[in-house]
Amino acid sequence: MPASKLTTLFVLTNALLGTAFAASSAGCTANKALPNGQTPGGDTVKVAFTQSDGTARDYLIHIPSTYVSTTPAELIFSFHGHTVDASNQESTSQFSNPKFNPNGIAVYPQGKGDSWQGAPYADKGVNDIEFVKDMISHFKESYCIDTSKIYASGMSNGGGFTATLACDSSVNILIAAFAPVSGAYYIDSSTCTPTAIKIPCDKGDRIVPVIEFHGDADPTIPYGGEKKNKECLPEVSHWVRSWSSRDGLGLENQTTHDMYKGKVTRSKFPKDSSDPSFGTVQHYKTAGLGHTWPTTDSAGYDATPIIMEFFGNYTL
Ligand SMILES: *[C@@H]1O[C@H](CO)[C@@H](O)[C@H](O)[C@H]1NC(C)=O
Repeated sequence: MPASKLTTLFVLTNALLGTAFAASSAGCTANKALPNGQTPGGDTVKVAFTQSDGTARDYLIHIPSTYVSTTPAELIFSFHGHTVDASNQESTSQFSNPKFNPNGIAVYPQGKGDSWQGAPYADKGVNDIEFVKDMISHFKESYCIDTSKIYASGMSNGGGFTATLACDSSVNILIAAFAPVSGAYYIDSSTCTPTAIKIPCDKGDRIVPVIEFHGDADPTIPYGGEKKNKECLPEVSHWVRSWSSRDGLGLENQTTHDMYKGKVTRSKFPKDSSDPSFGTVQHYKTAGLGHTWPTTDSAGYDATPIIMEFFGNYTL
């Protein structure tokens, strides 16, 4: 059979089976019970977990009220910052809030020593990328997951780790889109020119969707970058442009000024809004905002629904 006929057959088969079937995980089985007394719309539960190298871990999980074992659900990871924990990240990012995330399972993994791989202060012996892969395998088995709709977000060190996942071709093939907030994008380099430093990244062949939020008054991870903890933090817009460039979207963007009472400058890449890839890389720069997850209180807008809308545009 010629390749074109095969392709047609494949497309037809997929269309007949429906996308829900195509993306559903092994856990999509009628009447399959949720683990650990978890209930749809119930309290967030802390779960002990052993990663494949034997390391004892844990995470918090929230099941949306709409969850049923035969309908594939989205899965959203939200990684906490350094020195705070998973519970803090749940209240910070609000992915358990049905107002922002009505249908997705929200998971808040706990970092060893309250930190994540890729930062200079993280325990070098901890393989957090493996932890994430192991959790995804577990969630696919034990829950009904839409495997094309797994997403990652995080704050500060957790934002840096979100970027570490985006730059690892062995795990970014499992995660449809990435949303770091006030991310600490440490680069292991003794010299530091924040606006020009080369950012190491092995993203593989995928075009990786990334949305980044940063305050221009962030005292912890400064917008302009700096040498910190003997490593280099890149200037944030340089970091964003590096993603656009890596994704083949060019270095120019469509800029929208003065959003949300003048506080936000949004950059969307590529610049051409008629390009089908328009908006694949986005950046929200918030004037006067510190090292904070944007909320109506802190920034005049909530980042979480913007992240959810962004995630909704991308599937694997
Ligand atoms: C988007 O373009 C504007 C205008 O050239 C520039 O000032 C801004 O830094 C760009 N955004 C990013 C993230 O590079």
